[in-house]
Amino acid sequence: MRRKLAAGNWKMNGITASLSEVSGLMAAHPEPGCEVLLCPPATLVTAMAALTKGKIAVGGQDCHAEPSGAHTGDIAAVMLKDAGASHVIVGHSERRADHAETSDMVRAKAMAARAAGLVAVICLGESDAQRDAGETLDVIGQQLFASTPDGATGTNTVIAYEPIWAIGTGRTPTLAQIAEVHDFIRSELMGRFGAEGGLMRVLYGGSVKPSNAAEIFATSNVDGALVGGASLKATDFGAIISALSAA
Ligand code: 13P
Repeated sequence: MRRKLAAGNWKMNGITASLSEVSGLMAAHPEPGCEVLLCPPATLVTAMAALTKGKIAVGGQDCHAEPSGAHTGDIAAVMLKDAGASHVIVGHSERRADHAETSDMVRAKAMAARAAGLVAVICLGESDAQRDAGETLDVIGQQLFASTPDGATGTNTVIAYEPIWAIGTGRTPTLAQIAEVHDFIRSELMGRFGAEGGLMRVLYGGSVKPSNAAEIFATSNVDGALVGGASLKATDFGAIISALSAA
């Protein structure tokens, strides 16, 4: 059994006042029927963790592969853990694009996360051009293989499939396209990790909103969502949590 996971990625959004959305979310969903994770900017991890007290898990959005050192502006996994995080997103397409992160670097970050006791949420996704060229499964297979460290388990790793062209655009793949990629990821994970590959959650991300959440959550091998824009508002994210709880 894989426990469903509703994860929110606030990206570069949120200041202290934004924590009122989290209070509102907890008040409206005191006993969610799924696991809930919010990944705010690093500046809010400590305050959010103090507020949620483990009822909602808190994660970082990136970590450095090294545990410490001369890396101005970067954050080590152990620092996120110390601040109250239990998870960290690695390899988001915005980091792969904005910071030229390769899958080898993402794998190193995922290993650093594990060493610090954090769950790594490893992101994968094809571009518009790659999908049009019929390369989606090749690209996803390569990213999955190279970004996921040996020894990944259902406890220390979550995979998020986020087609780049669906992020922040309001465009989503068809349910058949989501199922095709999620089924492929599941079979690759089981081929490499055996039974443990059957325990890793595979999230869908990219323009998930209250209006499309239920149908996405009913799709094969979708174990939850990684939500960007709609995770910023308690009402929207709450509706997505309800849809996942009912799935
Ligand atoms: P949107 O939900 O805003 O499309 O963002 C998805 C995403 O990138 C989550 O990591």
